[in-house]
Order: sequence, then C-alpha cells, then structure tokens
Amino acid sequence: MEKKIKWFNQAVVYQIYPLSFKDSNDDGIGDINGITSKLSYIKSLGVDVIWLSPVYQSPMKDNGYDISDYKKINPIFGNMNDLKNLIKNTHAKGMKIIMDLVINHTSDQHSWFKKSQQNDLAYRDYYIWRDEPTDVSSIFGGSAWTYCEKRKQYYFHLFAKEQPDLNWHNPKLRNELYQMINEWLSLGIDGFRLDVIDLIGKDVDDKKFANGPYLKKYLKELYTACFAGKDIMTVGEMPGISIERASELTNEHEPYLNMAFQFSHISLDEIKGQGKWALKDLDLIELKQTFNHVQQTFYKKGWNALFLSNHDQPRVLFRYGSKKYPQASAKMLATMIYGMQGTPFIYQGEEIGMTGIAFKDINNYQDIETKQIYDILIKKGFKHQDIMRSIHKKSRDNSRTPFQWDESTYGGFSRHKPWLQVNENYKSINAKNNIENENSVFHYYKKLLKLRKEHDVFTYGDFQILELDNPNHFSYYRTFEDEKYLVICSFSEKEQPFNFSHQKFRVLISNYNDIDFEYRQTIPPYYAGILKIGD
Ligand code: NOJ
Repeated sequence: MEKKIKWFNQAVVYQIYPLSFKDSNDDGIGDINGITSKLSYIKSLGVDVIWLSPVYQSPMKDNGYDISDYKKINPIFGNMNDLKNLIKNTHAKGMKIIMDLVINHTSDQHSWFKKSQQNDLAYRDYYIWRDEPTDVSSIFGGSAWTYCEKRKQYYFHLFAKEQPDLNWHNPKLRNELYQMINEWLSLGIDGFRLDVIDLIGKDVDDKKFANGPYLKKYLKELYTACFAGKDIMTVGEMPGISIERASELTNEHEPYLNMAFQFSHISLDEIKGQGKWALKDLDLIELKQTFNHVQQTFYKKGWNALFLSNHDQPRVLFRYGSKKYPQASAKMLATMIYGMQGTPFIYQGEEIGMTGIAFKDINNYQDIETKQIYDILIKKGFKHQDIMRSIHKKSRDNSRTPFQWDESTYGGFSRHKPWLQVNENYKSINAKNNIENENSVFHYYKKLLKLRKEHDVFTYGDFQILELDNPNHFSYYRTFEDEKYLVICSFSEKEQPFNFSHQKFRVLISNYNDIDFEYRQTIPPYYAGILKIGD
C-alpha cells in the first residue's frame, strides 16, 4: 500500500545549533533570543520547520547532548520564557519547531544518576550497572564502562563517561521519560528529533546495540504513550541501522517514527571497519549505489530524511565537493540531495556555502570527541601530523564554527570573542553578501526549495538512476504520473560528456546560467541542473 503524505513529508527543515547560530547578549555564545531575532531570515529561505539542537540544562561536556535536567533551559541559552517566545514567534511566521530529544543517556550530573550512584532504591536501576566490565568500546573511543567508587560497580556509556546510558528495561524510568516528553509537547512544540534512538533497544550483555532486540517494543510504547493521535513530526537519528530497517520503522503501518536519519551515505570517505578517522577518497559510484538503494527501499514504504551535513559531520562542501568550484559544488550538492524523495534537512550555514576549518593547534578544538581521539591516538603512538590530518577532515567542530552573518568582526555572530573561532573566510562567505548577490548559493537554495514544492514529482515520484557506472556524474530521473524530470549533477572538475540528444527538455534550474544545451553533448565542471523532459 502507498504511504500517505502528511505535512512533514513536504516540509523543509532547518537545523539550528544554538551555540553557534546567533548571540543576542554578546557573551560569545549563541542563544535562544538570537534565534528569535533571525526567524525572518530562516523563513525567507523557504523553511517550514526549525529543529533546535539541545538547549536543556547541561554541563555541556557534549554541547548539550548530556542533559542534567530535561525540564530546565540552560541559562547560557536563556530561559523558559525565551523559549516560549521563540515557539510563539516561529508559529506566528507560519513555521513549526521541533526539539532534540536525548533519551538514550543523560549527563552524569542528572539527579537520577547521582541517586543511582548512591544505590538509592528508587533509582538504582535507572542506569546500566555491572560488577565487571566487558570489552565494549564507547563511540567516542576508550572503554564503554567506567568504574564508580561510590557504588563499587561499573556503569555503561556508549558515548563519553559523562553520558551514562539509561536502562530502558526499567518501566519506571520509561514512564518518567514519557511524562517529560508529554510535558514538552503540551508547551506547543511540533515534534522531536530523537537522538541515537536506534540504541534504546540494546542488549548490553549480548553486545547488541544499534537495532537491538527491544527496539521495536520500546519505540511502539513510546509512540503510544506520547505521539499517537498528535499532529507532530518525529525524526529518529539512527546511525547504526540498515536502510531496510530504517524504512520499516518509518512505515505508517507500524508508525514508530515519521522519518529516519539513516547514515549509509555518510561514511563513504572512511576505510570500512576502521572508524571515522581512517580516511579514503569518496568513490562516486559507491555514493550512487547507496542512494539508489536508499531511494528504492523507502519508495512507498518508509520515509527518509534528506541530509548531507549536521553538527556531527564535517560540512559537505569540501567533503564531497570541490575547493576549485565552491559555489558550483554547493549548488550541485543541494540539487543532488534535495532532488530525491524524502524531507530536506538543511544544516545552518549550508545555504550560504559555509566551509569547514582546520585549526593548527589541537587546543583550538572544543569538541569532546576530537579531544578524546587525539589523546588516544597520541598514546597509541600515531604522529601528531597524521592525527591532525584526520581531525582537519573529520572533526565535528568543522560544522560548529559560528554562523557567518556579515563581514563585521566575528562574522556578526557576536561582539564578544566566540566560544569557538569563527572561520576566517567570513568576509567573503556570509549571509549578507549571499542575500545581496542574486547568483549566490542562498538564492539557489531558495529557488530549488520552491521548485520542490511546485512540482509533485519531488514528493511522490519514483527514482531511476542514470548510468550507474559513470564515475563523473550522478544523474537520475524522477517520474510521477505523466511527468518526467532529469536531475544532473557533475562531480568532476572537467567538462564531461553527457548525452542530451534523445530528448526534448526545459531547464528548470541550473548552477550555470548561460548554457545553451541545444547542440551540446557535455556538461561543465560541477554542473547541476533539473530538466523537465518533453515539450
Ligand atoms: C548524536 C548527537 O547528534 C551527537 O552530537 C552526540 O554526541 C551523540 N548523539 C550523543 O548524544
């Protein structure tokens, strides 16, 4: 049976990383009122939904993904009134707002963990405790078990030791989480992005983590307790599960989640099995095969979130694009991803062509994962330069530098030195000059997102890849009823052959303005275009 399309299937979502978006009180840290002051900018891009990375009370060991109180706002971001004001203003602009929900783990400063450490009867089983550690590694490096002196036992953490995993097998804990989630929904927010939600069904002793044996059971219970019958959207971050499983969990017959972030296309510049720091060049054919598989698997079955960057990934521009053709590649990558079926997610700054950074000094990095891996690899005997090469490419701080609003000091993000250095290219890459220049990445995004909404084919159409084995361009057809569109995306710095001769077409959007295709059999470097086939 076909999937029914709801508002969130056609929405465009914009991810905000609050620390780095806009500082309203000049303390060098982005905040909620800063976001409110930029709602018109976001709206002008064609955004329907804002996703806020965590703003809850937190010691900020993992920038807010370590929550110490789910019901409070971290004062560095503002207060509950500021948030209510943001929700109200977002709605007044005709947009919706979803919050991050981090329920696989909390901070070690959460009162539940403090009580659990003390073996308090009511909380002792809120976390995962064992007498002996196993050989499981945490995702940030090092053991996943840390010894607790107070309790004389080890606790389990798949991320930093300051982020103990919750014990989802405890029904009392689950109910307490559901109550908290419902309180947030009653504030009028429009849904959640669920952090590493594929991990909640784990069996620690059996070493089954992502996609664990209890995942469906707990997702179903969560859905019934909190989401059923409400007009909200849920998007599950599920880095560890297969494409098939992600599609199954977002199928409306088993309505666990409305859509999935699955990561099959993300790690293609890593040596398989060796983790994110072991680099390899992207193989375009592998990327095409992956997306082909994703698009076929989700079609009429589940719903996929379309994304290339987020706060955990280096910005895609210089990851899969070209330093020689930055503008063309930024537009091409957007065309490639947003031409597909799914809900588009834009990570702040992608729409103005922001790039990653490469600090020489490891001390300029703020990210816990980056710092941790540096220490681990130094201890293992790796050379500083080799580690830094990986960090320059893959550190999460690549995407976390402050948003570049204009050419003023600190890129207009703040008047105070920011918590993380601004990328020094802010004078040439910023929102202000993007808005002023009609040919900018920003205006291209705007046009592309509008086009998606104007033509049903992007929501409903099927996906057919063209020349799967061609290593230079990624092109595909989208077809719906009697309409057919061709999306062409070049990944080459050279002019490449392309066979146009068999079709009549009209160019709807392109990153080169002045190409007359009539007699042409080639596409220019990093070309992107969407063509309507037929008269
Ligand atoms: C995924 C989040 O996106 C990331 O930033 C965080 O470090 C881990 N989950 C742990 O919460």
